[in-house]
Amino acid sequence: MKVLQGKKIILGVCGGIAAYKAADLCRLLVKEGAEVQVLMTRAAREFIAPLTFSVLSGRPCLSEMFGEEGVNPLLHIEVAQGADLLLIAPATANIIAKLAWGLADDLLTTTALAVTCPAILAPAMNVNMYNNPAVQENLDILKRRGWGIVEPEEGELACGVKGKGRLASLEKIVAYARKALFPQDLAGKVFLITAGGTREPLDPVRFISNRSSGKMGHALAQAAWERGARVLLVSAAQGIEPPWGVEYYPVETAADMAEKVLSLFPEADVVIKAAAVADFRPAEVAGEKIKKGDYKSFVLTLEPTVDILAELGKSKRHQILVGFAAETREPLNEGALKMKAKNVDLMVVNDVTLEGAGFGSDTNIVTLLRPDGRKEELPRLPKLEVAHRILNAVKELPRFKEKAEILTQKE
Ligand code: CTP
Repeated sequence: MKVLQGKKIILGVCGGIAAYKAADLCRLLVKEGAEVQVLMTRAAREFIAPLTFSVLSGRPCLSEMFGEEGVNPLLHIEVAQGADLLLIAPATANIIAKLAWGLADDLLTTTALAVTCPAILAPAMNVNMYNNPAVQENLDILKRRGWGIVEPEEGELACGVKGKGRLASLEKIVAYARKALFPQDLAGKVFLITAGGTREPLDPVRFISNRSSGKMGHALAQAAWERGARVLLVSAAQGIEPPWGVEYYPVETAADMAEKVLSLFPEADVVIKAAAVADFRPAEVAGEKIKKGDYKSFVLTLEPTVDILAELGKSKRHQILVGFAAETREPLNEGALKMKAKNVDLMVVNDVTLEGAGFGSDTNIVTLLRPDGRKEELPRLPKLEVAHRILNAVKELPRFKEKAEILTQKE
């Protein structure tokens, strides 16, 4: 989902060594379809040439209020008007202090006071500077005023010391930019999401699993976080990173997943069970590697695992349950049967035999089934877009709306 498409983003670049990374950030934002206007502080120009940003953004990079560049004394107002997002990266200790105290002595700081759009900043500096109470208190002031702060990362800093202060990864900054532009319509809700295919060990080197990649569950976690939810992601996916901002619980087996999900269930408002959970596991797990020479033929005895979704369906109170049914024949019938049997509020059904649907793919083709029999067929879409459509459907469920109304009445 290209939420940055056509959005007007002011990218403020300040004078720290990480200023060179802002060039790549600018490129990423442009690639996502944003119209980027770069504003540099004077100090930033010591680190990287404005021409770099002019070329990457396709519009003149600005930094002076007066003089040749600033023939228009209302430049800061002009830039601020119509902006969808102000993003300052890297943000130095100096700019953080100026913003916290409302100083306005250059184009970036005057513009920052004039914008009415969401604003986020990504600090980058030496670890001691970052930990200095002056900087931390200024950041607190900005947080209270609604600024989004993309925390720096730990690591080796340009000054040679190790610690927290390195500019957050560009992917993370872009993720925060996306979040800042989404309506926070799931704020205050807790989403418990499962992902990936569980692995059931046979011996120390082998396991039984399935073709689930975890991409659909991770896309759901990303989408829910982007819309303001607190996200608890219980994932058995291998080889893919969890999205930013989620509380991540990696698990391996169906039993691990069951234990984690059941323990988190009471805090959840919505549970989305996108994981492909093994229905059976080896009845015995060998302590040593099973040697082929020891057997003429090998009969594996499997025992059932707990059906997590069915358990949740039995004990649910205020929670909304969303199940998945990945099928190879009669998907809608199978999905409807599972929805009833597991007491689910919304079923996401897909025929995994279709090209562009299901396992491993970056797209999916699903039908959403509701308990009242209504069904909504979605076209082939990127998994992140499918995720947003599923969340829209959750929001429209009468049980979700009823709960939201009760909460609003209480407030
Ligand atoms: N599920 C679960 N625990 C299990 C098996 C499935 O929570 N042990 C959940 C899945 O996460 C999914 C839904 O139940 O949301 C349907 O899973 P699926 O594998 O399609 O169906 P099963 O109920 O296992 O039935 P079958 O394998 O016979 O199709």
